[in-house]
Amino acid sequence: MDNDSQLRPTVLVIFGGGGDLAWRKLVPALFSLQLGQNLPASFALRAIDRVQTNEESLRERFRDGVTRFGRDGPPPEADWNRFAAIVTYQQSDFDDPAAYVALRDYLNAHDAQWNARANWVFYMATPPKLFGVIARRLGEAGLSRDPDRSRIVVEKPLGCDLESARQLNRVLADNFSEPQIFRIDHYLGKETVQNILAFRFANLLFEPLWNRRYVDHVTITVAEEIGVEHRGGYYDRAGALRDMVQNHLLQLLCLVTMEPPVSFDAEEIRNKKVDVLHAVRPIAHHDVHEFAARGQYAEGWVKGEHVCGYRSEEGVSPQSTTETFAALKLFVDNWRWQGVPFYLRTGKRLMRFVSEISIRFRAVPHQAFPIEAALDWQPARLVIRIQPDEGIVLRFQAKQPGGRMHLRPVDMRFNYADTFQRASPDAYETLLADAMRNDATLFIRADQVEAAWSLLTPVLDVWAAVPPSDFPNYAAGTWGPETAEVLIAQDGRTWLQPTSPHTAVR
Ligand code: BG6
Repeated sequence: MDNDSQLRPTVLVIFGGGGDLAWRKLVPALFSLQLGQNLPASFALRAIDRVQTNEESLRERFRDGVTRFGRDGPPPEADWNRFAAIVTYQQSDFDDPAAYVALRDYLNAHDAQWNARANWVFYMATPPKLFGVIARRLGEAGLSRDPDRSRIVVEKPLGCDLESARQLNRVLADNFSEPQIFRIDHYLGKETVQNILAFRFANLLFEPLWNRRYVDHVTITVAEEIGVEHRGGYYDRAGALRDMVQNHLLQLLCLVTMEPPVSFDAEEIRNKKVDVLHAVRPIAHHDVHEFAARGQYAEGWVKGEHVCGYRSEEGVSPQSTTETFAALKLFVDNWRWQGVPFYLRTGKRLMRFVSEISIRFRAVPHQAFPIEAALDWQPARLVIRIQPDEGIVLRFQAKQPGGRMHLRPVDMRFNYADTFQRASPDAYETLLADAMRNDATLFIRADQVEAAWSLLTPVLDVWAAVPPSDFPNYAAGTWGPETAEVLIAQDGRTWLQPTSPHTAVR
């Protein structure tokens, strides 16, 4: 990241500053930004929450968060003290107008102290039902209207279906204009996700092949080993489709399939991404069983450890019908992608923690080699490793050394750790810095959120109307339910095995 200490003075206000998100993600990211000198020279952090605590205890909690979840372990004393000095706490009820008067006074005092018109970044780290209340109160207090200095950052869940997403967009739009609203999908802050555009559009090599003529199919896998951890209450109402597919997986799909942007202007990139969502072939209600599969984990073994089934997790109903695995087959109906299937799958308690996009190219049009030369032959495959072992693998055919012509797949690998030799910034570092810089390229626009919900509506409808009869239907520590295998097998394909840094891809 470039040095940003020349940035305009900024106050970051975290609503819900006493909660989990601030502790685990936001503060560790801010601290790393400070270490890298990527915070504005004049910067203040105001945490607002209902919880009864004082500044000292909050700072200790933040230090604990940095130690546990930060990139660099326990913070050095001097750096920590410098950071702690900019943290203040305001205990308030989010619906209390007096809270916003106090906040305004605090913000004005900083303008006076810095002799500047500071940026105000309001970060919603609260439960989503409070987004609307806070936005309205900020508006009433006169803190939202100036597009030059004030912006609001909201995190998923951005609604739980099309109607609630529209309602949230309306409430935000009543108080902030669209360029002031920064909707986060933290996947877009990941280096490997941003690199998809660099890989595609900064190299002449692949883009000419990036279409229906050369690509057979694409799989996108976002697999987790973890279960629902301490988030059972939220997750049991959400499920994998809402929690992961509506946002992260569809964002990956957009980046892989979008047309080349004319410039890297935020609106241009976002227009091209929305075009993809509009081009995705709608799934008819009566076709949902053919295009979507769901699953829920039973007890099993993950990394040699016995783990409980989803229905026994804390905060989850013992009769829950919530899916912890979802797979979809999608088509992007445009000139570039007509007829190429995109298979998406994600789940919790799967065999391995791995997120990757696999592009399987078509077979060569004529196989000239003798049959015995090509027993191990496979069409080329390009794998974009999102995490872990971030990188790109290209698998192609080569002649095995020896007297006879014998073909074998081999790998060409690029990996971040070897090439760059330093840790990438955490997604939240990138996104927080961009929000402070007023760069919306990596954030989601209202129409994109709605387009994504609209695409999933038939699946949500059918899954809600027809409760699964086979749940739980996959053991923890496997690749998911049989129905996901059937989804792809009906097209004569199988899921491309995720790559690993040590074994060759198949
Ligand atoms: C979040 C989901 O958006 O992404 C979680 O709510 C999921 O359920 C997480 O575990 C995965 O993110 P990452 O960055 O660990 O791949």
